[in-house]
Amino acid sequence: FTVPTPQNEPVKGYAPGTPERASLQAKLTELQAKEHDLDMYISGEWRRGNGEAIKVVQPHKHSHVLGVTHAATGAQAAEAVAAAKAAKREWASMDFADRAAIFLRAAELIAGPYRDTLNGATMLGQSKTAAQTEIDAACELIDFLRFNVHFAEQIYAKQAQSSAGLWNRTDHRPLDGFVYAITPFNFTAIAGNLPTAPALMGNTVVWKPATTQQFAANFLVQILEEAGLPGGVINMVTGPGPEISDVVMADPDLAGIHFTGSTRVFQSLWKHVGENISSYRSYPRLVGETGGKDFIIAHPSANIDQLAVAMTRGAFEYQGQKCSAVSRTYMPRSLWEGGLKDQVLDITSQIKYGDVTDFDHFGGAVIDERAYAKHTALFKRVADDKEATVIAGGTADDSVGYFVQPTIIEATNPEHEVFTDEYFGPITSVYVFDDSDFDSVVRQAADVAPYALTGGIFANDRAAIARASEELRFAAGNYYINDKPTGAVVGQQPFGGSRGSGTNDKAGSWQNLVRWISPRSIKENF
Ligand code: ALA
Repeated sequence: FTVPTPQNEPVKGYAPGTPERASLQAKLTELQAKEHDLDMYISGEWRRGNGEAIKVVQPHKHSHVLGVTHAATGAQAAEAVAAAKAAKREWASMDFADRAAIFLRAAELIAGPYRDTLNGATMLGQSKTAAQTEIDAACELIDFLRFNVHFAEQIYAKQAQSSAGLWNRTDHRPLDGFVYAITPFNFTAIAGNLPTAPALMGNTVVWKPATTQQFAANFLVQILEEAGLPGGVINMVTGPGPEISDVVMADPDLAGIHFTGSTRVFQSLWKHVGENISSYRSYPRLVGETGGKDFIIAHPSANIDQLAVAMTRGAFEYQGQKCSAVSRTYMPRSLWEGGLKDQVLDITSQIKYGDVTDFDHFGGAVIDERAYAKHTALFKRVADDKEATVIAGGTADDSVGYFVQPTIIEATNPEHEVFTDEYFGPITSVYVFDDSDFDSVVRQAADVAPYALTGGIFANDRAAIARASEELRFAAGNYYINDKPTGAVVGQQPFGGSRGSGTNDKAGSWQNLVRWISPRSIKENF
């Protein structure tokens, strides 16, 4: 069983008049034609939650209900845990080739017959444009599935040294228990990766997607089911997280958590595990990718055109709702006042957010009312703030969808909240500095925010790049030179950060997969 090194899935365009556009459009119409039952999936069966009914709407048109999901009760969350535990032995002893084949088949289904379904569901449920959806729900997810198999095969092939009369070998066991996967709304690829990566390594999983991601999540489960995933291997529970987490994490067989979401929630899960550590049979592996306050720092030698595009795309694609989004920038005065500001404001003024299903907009709405309220509260705060000025955007309208305009805030205090706090929306900040202060600005920017996810330096001066890169060594897990710090590609830029941004266990790489195994060293004498 050998998997050749995968190629990244080619990105499809959805230009007007193409068959790809027509096919996706037809799928969007079909998906919107009815209200869907968004049930949970336990032991290979679709079941309705017995808790409150929750409407899942289109963020850019919140009057349109895509479907209704029902929260799992505590008893149902416990059933999901029991299902994962019951399926464990058989799944863990299945040949890797057979497990891998299921996920490779899922990749083929997503690449082919279900591409429009998963893309369409992501556009509608998460308010992504076709272009942003394609690089997420299609390409990145397909890449995760294929590359993980490739990396797992390399891990399984690794063996200790043996000699005549002595055979050392490694049994790459799954963890001794089940894994709890918790996924956010913003990437369908993450929804696919977080439960399937531990499952590929022989673990069974309880998976809790964000309710705002439930529409795409249900199709994802249908695809895994069609690919041949046995019942009980991945059990998806629906509804708000805290109640479900309380039940799932009370189980002594919790062996790992695979999380992407906010720093606050990950810290609360960690605390919960810490406080109850003696109740678990193993030390649960805690793998989390959390917040970010991702930066661009420019040197006076940087290219203005490149910078303007990187800043605006990095900040405003997918309404800034990527953990990697550019949310603070540091610009030398000579560039900012010498044309960069004008270019940035010009590009920003042309960005139109709207209904993503008409294929005309650069972006859609922010995910929900809560996000909308958080951003508008910031606009109110900044309006009375002498240290900060809104130079673009700063307005919002939720009459049809949760629309927040692309916003740039210039602030004079480099410790202002716009340089330290994560907003997770289409909001970025600028600190303008005197050219000669470049080195001290880099030093300050390296440590001012409690995160270290992504960041980038723009410069043509090699010595400046070298100095800044050294100073910023621990400021970002994904570091870019002359590129925007978003859009990491599986197999090319393994993704993850440290500090308040997570455990840096690089999604889509062998580093992530080894967290889901607990090797047994075997020595045999002859
Ligand atoms: N992995 C995503 C990116 O790099 C978040 O933008």
